[in-house]
Amino acid sequence: MPLQFADRLNNVETSAIRELFKLLGKPGIISFAGGFPDSAMFDVDGIRDASNAALSQDPGAALQYGATEGFGPLREQLAHFMGQKGANDVTADQLIVTTGSQQALDLIGKTMISPGDKVIVEGPTFLATIQCFRLYGAELISAPVDGHGVKTDALEKLIAEHKPKFVYLIPTFGNPSGALLSAERRKKVLEMAVKHQTLIVEDDPYGDLYFGETPPPSLLAMSASVPGSRELLVHCGSLSKVLSPGLRVGWMIAPAELLARATMCKQFSDAHTSTFAQATAAQYLKAGRMPATLDKVRSVYAQRAQTMGDALRRELGQAVDFVQPQGGLFVWARLTGAGCKVADGNVFAKRAIDNGVAFVPGAPFFCAHPDHATFRLSFATVGEDKILEGISRLAKAL
Ligand SMILES: Cc1ncc(COP(=O)(O)O)c(C=O)c1O
Repeated sequence: MPLQFADRLNNVETSAIRELFKLLGKPGIISFAGGFPDSAMFDVDGIRDASNAALSQDPGAALQYGATEGFGPLREQLAHFMGQKGANDVTADQLIVTTGSQQALDLIGKTMISPGDKVIVEGPTFLATIQCFRLYGAELISAPVDGHGVKTDALEKLIAEHKPKFVYLIPTFGNPSGALLSAERRKKVLEMAVKHQTLIVEDDPYGDLYFGETPPPSLLAMSASVPGSRELLVHCGSLSKVLSPGLRVGWMIAPAELLARATMCKQFSDAHTSTFAQATAAQYLKAGRMPATLDKVRSVYAQRAQTMGDALRRELGQAVDFVQPQGGLFVWARLTGAGCKVADGNVFAKRAIDNGVAFVPGAPFFCAHPDHATFRLSFATVGEDKILEGISRLAKAL
């Protein structure tokens, strides 16, 4: 007898991107397809020292079951970390540690979405969020984005029309858009949250990866200046992109009622995030190594982003349009149709693989009305020589 799977799976498909990833095994391929940090960037010595400290100082706590909300010393360190980034009124009991920020997104879906509920996301947005919210039966509505992030006028109209359960945004160097929401638009988002009494979810795994000027404060940090907005804000953070995704340490700051329900759901899901990973992360932050680690990753990624942007402008010229990223891991680009045969990101991706270079077409990142001319390139894991070679291969695929 065929297995009878849950109805909720009917809403979700495995991503088209996975199909493309199967082709990446071809020898000699230069890949701009991943969404990972560079493993050469991991502070292995620092993490080794931190895990040694975790095991020598309180091995019982580091290896035992722990509280679902998270390991106390890590919650303290994370509250302090958020304070250094402008959210200086966050206390340890206002956050829970999650197994990556991905789990925070899942817990938000689990606690907030009933089948048929409307949720507004950016078009484009993080693919796993689309899949996760759909799993809970959300009807996703796409809000348009430009080089400065979500278009707030359009967003407000969508909120007024659809009265969504919540709005999910990646305001700082979004995946895949790379866009940075301006300070003015951030303020508008908070004001519209209060005006329409709409919950806003801010997903912020990339905010620390800025290349030049410090970006505007997170919605969380800015909420102090918009009365009533903090009660309508969920913030998800992660150590994945700046320290190590393998640690699986993320966190979620949310209104107390939501946090309590998310904690209850987490209890049934994984009991708690690995205490050993949490104790290691706590020791790492306590040792004060994060600022130097951040300086290093920012400067390496900044250089790679610049090299990729310059090469794209030089080699592909008018055929592509993109905004030079000011942080994060991605260049989000669009085929303009000028001086090239291809107009579709998917076709371009296949031609690119034939030419020895891979990237991800943009259409799957839209929950509706996909822009088929778009594609995403990651500059994070490829050295500068390979970036130059990869972009010249890309030009041949046009
Ligand atoms: C926008 C966004 N949110 C969340 C995540 C999940 O990251 P993690 O679970 O490793 O914290 C990612 C990872 O790619 C991401 O791009």
